[in-house]
Amino acid sequence: MKKIGIMTTGGDCSGLNTVIHRVVRGAILRGWTVVGILDGTDGLCENPPRILEFDEHTLPIENARLAGSFLHNGHAGALNFETAAENGRIAAFNKKLYRGLRALDLDALILIGGNGSLSLAWANRETYRDLQLVCIPKTIDMDMPMTDRTIGFDTAVQQLTGFCDQLMLTARSHHRWFVVQAMGRDCGQLALNAGVAVGATAILIPEIKFDIDTLVRHIKHAPTDYGVIIVSEGISLRGHSGKPADMISRKLTAAGIVNRTAFPEHTQRAGDTTAADRILASRLADCALHAIDNGETYVMTALDCNGCKTVALSDFVAAGETVRDPKIPDLLTSNAYVSPDDPLLDVAPHLGIYIGETK
Ligand code: F6P
Repeated sequence: MKKIGIMTTGGDCSGLNTVIHRVVRGAILRGWTVVGILDGTDGLCENPPRILEFDEHTLPIENARLAGSFLHNGHAGALNFETAAENGRIAAFNKKLYRGLRALDLDALILIGGNGSLSLAWANRETYRDLQLVCIPKTIDMDMPMTDRTIGFDTAVQQLTGFCDQLMLTARSHHRWFVVQAMGRDCGQLALNAGVAVGATAILIPEIKFDIDTLVRHIKHAPTDYGVIIVSEGISLRGHSGKPADMISRKLTAAGIVNRTAFPEHTQRAGDTTAADRILASRLADCALHAIDNGETYVMTALDCNGCKTVALSDFVAAGETVRDPKIPDLLTSNAYVSPDDPLLDVAPHLGIYIGETK
């Protein structure tokens, strides 16, 4: 009989509870014991580690659709993968993690995390040498290489779309525009997908250069005198600082376009998990359990052309574009951006959405 641990790290997103629920269900059916590690690495570093022992009733199915993590992701400002690396305390931190894992005597750990957590887990892989490490990708940013989808993305697109849909009605009443700032760090996936869903007039993402004068002309020639412009939080405008939505808003105001800014912020990480995210969570949970059955370790579950598979963490880290985090010396984080052959980059301009200077 195996004993497995499950832990959620990094920023939360909707879909985490579905993964936890499905992992617990599949594990109990196999006769395994499941412990949930509370507050991510924060709880694992404590002596003894803070845990929750799961049975069938610990996380009721009706709660598995709720956003957030039933296990929590850690206190803001606590020592975690990223803050330890940033503060040069990674060796001591790894020692604590190792001690916590030994105390729990796990056969396997399912780590549900984003780019930062997975890259750091691989960089510090010695910590997990005595167990099987199986990761499940989650993030609203969809910036992880080697998987076509990450848990939480679909719900975030739905949340942002709903937010913009509401603004569209008040925009129409007052013949004005809303500049909405989307999350996503330096990846434009969330803004691009929600923008197409909403029928935004323009979508500005970090991957594509844009021209303010062209944007202004595009808005002035739009078939409506109201609408939504979605800007990614990762865009920049030479010579300007501050929030990207504010920068764009000021430019539009200067050009005589009446507008307001709107910031959906962390509502993009909330919201009941969409059916698509629940299905993805169920599939990746099942894939992770099979990986444990098969004795795999240092792997990440992935969706590839609608099939689920595992990929080596080493390949994950080497894939995409490796980015050096200025705050974490020696760490190469693997990032995936909107690819130039993303079909939405064709569809959007064909339908009159300005997405920047693509030609
Ligand atoms: O990576 C997920 C994410 O929501 C980003 O889109 C956003 O930039 C960041 O996390 C916000 O982090 P915090 O919750 O620490 O403000």
